[in-house]
Amino acid sequence: MSAPALDNEFAQDVRAGLTRRGQKTLPCSYLYDDVGSALFEAITYLPEYGLTRADARVIQMHAGDLIESLPPNLITAELGSGSGSKTRAILETLRDREPAVYYPIDLSVTALEKCAQDLGSLAAVFPMRAAYLEGLREVAERRAPGQTLLVLFLGSTIGNFEADRAVDFLYAIRQCLQAGDALLLGTDLVKPVEQLLAAYDDPTGVTAAFNLNLLARINRELDGDFDLRQFEHVVVYSQEAQRIEMHLRSRIRQTVRIRKAGLVVEFEPHETIWTEACHKFRPEQVCVMARAAGFRLSAQWVDEEWPFAESLLVAG
Ligand code: AVI
Repeated sequence: MSAPALDNEFAQDVRAGLTRRGQKTLPCSYLYDDVGSALFEAITYLPEYGLTRADARVIQMHAGDLIESLPPNLITAELGSGSGSKTRAILETLRDREPAVYYPIDLSVTALEKCAQDLGSLAAVFPMRAAYLEGLREVAERRAPGQTLLVLFLGSTIGNFEADRAVDFLYAIRQCLQAGDALLLGTDLVKPVEQLLAAYDDPTGVTAAFNLNLLARINRELDGDFDLRQFEHVVVYSQEAQRIEMHLRSRIRQTVRIRKAGLVVEFEPHETIWTEACHKFRPEQVCVMARAAGFRLSAQWVDEEWPFAESLLVAG
């Protein structure tokens, strides 16, 4: 091993995940480098993956009800905004009532630039390159007296948290808010297993490429020698945990070197790396989670075509 091991967070997380006893893991946040983000964008167009379209549809349909139920003098912040495309309907409705103010929070500069460009004619847009909570704290500090904060956390990203972490995260959001502030939370709902398996293991292989890119990213950034053809994308649904579990399975016994993480990893045939969990919810479970985090459910809108809920939670 010639290259020195790096001490950055990615190298540390890869080391921790691939050397732990039992199930090897990698954090799903690393799926989203430039290639991974482009592949995720492609996933959202797949006929088998209805989640993103359902999210957009419910917002489009109920933006009026949402804005009507909130007091005037609103500021909107979106966690993980991407290019903010789903938020357009909310800002369009809002600006009919008052000048719209929008803080998209994201780590991708490219996405934030596109957001400012696309939505700048509808709202005063203040892009914030930051992690979710760091960005939200900053928005909360900047708010003027009398303003109500509406936080958007769409796309069922909450489903990618471990179950107890999800409540912790909602509670951390609540800590940034004042009573009367609101959170619009998008959650994908439980649906037939075959439908879920097809959504996460599409026949065109886009989701497989999205998953395998994580190994390619380790090769690129940490000087690894994963042979991608010796791993396969595998998806299982756990009824008990109500979640899709996405894995990368080794086809053979093999040894992988990751030089910049100072690692040599052995894989048994069929051994997997668990890369992502995608929890699915029942509408009433969202209410329970919300209450545990200090919110009350004020409204819930569900898409009938692809069961998906948009829940309006008000900080108590
Ligand atoms: C971002 N997140 C909500 C997606 C999901 O459905 O859980 C990530 C994803 N993974 C595979 N396909 C989509």
